[in-house]
Amino acid sequence: MANLLVKMKNGKLFRSFKSLKMRIFCIIIVAGMIPCVMLHYGVLDRYLDNAVSVRTSEVQTQVRIIADHLITYNYLLDNSSDVVNAELSQLSNLYDGRVLIMDSNMKIIKDTYGISEGKTIISENIIKCFKEGGASNHLEENGYIEIVVPIEEKIEDKARTVGVMQISVSTDSIRTSYEYIQSRAFLLEMLAMVVIVGIAYFLSRKLLKPFEKITDAINEVKNGFTDEEISVTDYTETEQIGDAFNQMMGRMKVLDESRQEFVSNVSHELKTPLASMKVLADSLLTQEDVPSELYREFMTDIAAEIDRENKIITDLLSLVKMTRTSADMNVETMDINSILELMLKRLGPIATRANVKLIFESRRPVSAEVDEVKLTLALSNLVENAIKYNIDGGWVKVILDADHQYFTVEVSDSGIGIPQESIEHIYERFYRVDKSHSKEIGGTGLGLAITRSAVVMHRGSINVRSEEGVGTVFTVKIPLTYIAQ
Ligand SMILES: Nc1ncnc2c1ncn2[C@@H]1O[C@H](COP(=O)(O)OP(=O)(O)OP(=O)(O)O)[C@@H](O)[C@H]1O
Ligand SMILES: [Mg+2]
Repeated sequence: MANLLVKMKNGKLFRSFKSLKMRIFCIIIVAGMIPCVMLHYGVLDRYLDNAVSVRTSEVQTQVRIIADHLITYNYLLDNSSDVVNAELSQLSNLYDGRVLIMDSNMKIIKDTYGISEGKTIISENIIKCFKEGGASNHLEENGYIEIVVPIEEKIEDKARTVGVMQISVSTDSIRTSYEYIQSRAFLLEMLAMVVIVGIAYFLSRKLLKPFEKITDAINEVKNGFTDEEISVTDYTETEQIGDAFNQMMGRMKVLDESRQEFVSNVSHELKTPLASMKVLADSLLTQEDVPSELYREFMTDIAAEIDRENKIITDLLSLVKMTRTSADMNVETMDINSILELMLKRLGPIATRANVKLIFESRRPVSAEVDEVKLTLALSNLVENAIKYNIDGGWVKVILDADHQYFTVEVSDSGIGIPQESIEHIYERFYRVDKSHSKEIGGTGLGLAITRSAVVMHRGSINVRSEEGVGTVFTVKIPLTYIAQ
């Protein structure tokens, strides 16, 4: 009890009730106790009432028979009949009780105890018996049943009450057997309780064993002792938990691998321009009297490498920003036509340098809730690519359209196209089709990753169709109204 109080104080008791094992244990105990309680209150408690009413009707029958004999032997006028007296003493002995016989004046003409003969008694039961017929009373605290039966004389089929027979029957024997049954029942109930607690303890442990197994297996994986798949097939539920855990582990492995790959790609990409600069600087330092043209040429190369390094770092920072939560979104209602016009104006010189024609076709005025900076970055990456991976004298077309829910920006080009097998990889960070060819063009392979993240942050989608030697079409679809998460 003291332990229970300490547990209650520490909140441990509540916590242990939260445990499934404890709940199963309690449910089995409660379920097991129900039949015991029903047996106790439904059968045992009724036994006493039942036994008393059986005894009452048994005695009433016997008393009625004797009451008839009293008339036959004219006992009310002459109580010396041996037959009747024998019957009366047998009755009182049999039920350990006292028989009184009263005549119509309520005068006692026979008392089997022999102490009240000649006296007159007036009691509620006797008066009632004269008026309405027999009655019975169970006086539980005194331990007896009082039964009164009218003595009736029949004249021409009419019954007339000429006296009353009263018998007090002891209920001691009934109570003794009731107490005996009660003690036996208590013993059996105690035994049943012990068995139920045992079953509850056993079942609650047994039923939850597979869940403990699965927890152990997860802990093994968590602590790094094993990376084997979990399989606890005892229940469908444990099997499902195992499968879900294995899938989650698989996903984490993929994420971990891609993180490692990303880190090694980043370090590689960042080191390449540095290595070039080092080579260029070293070759200038080791040479005596370097001609100023060579100096200029090498310094130009070094400046180009610095630009490259700078671009990679800028792109990486944009990508990191894009993969953060939507809380970083700076959404405003913007005129998309003006955004695109401004963007294409900025990219104009690059297109002219590459001898590519830039065409903008706006099918309708569109205003939408967007983050201007992110959307411009996403779309200018697409247009830059369309210019970069184009042919001399080619074209790039940007089409803006909208329906009542979305706006779409289609960027198509007459460029070199993307090989079918590369299409699924182009959004991966640092992925570039045909490295040697791309190297001539220049780039880090982060552009499309940035674009896709920006589109996803706008809850939009991006699709690509491409044919080698013919051209590529990127389609971006974004909701007009920003859907916050
Ligand atoms: N319009 C296009 N036509 C042909 N190939 C394309 C086109 N757009 C992308 N690609 C291919 O997809 C690759 C990935 O594009 P992405 O924009 O991510 O990188 P990048 O252009 O190489 O470098 P960055 O944009 O980071 O400077 C490119 O290297 C290129 O091979
Ligand atoms: Mg690009």
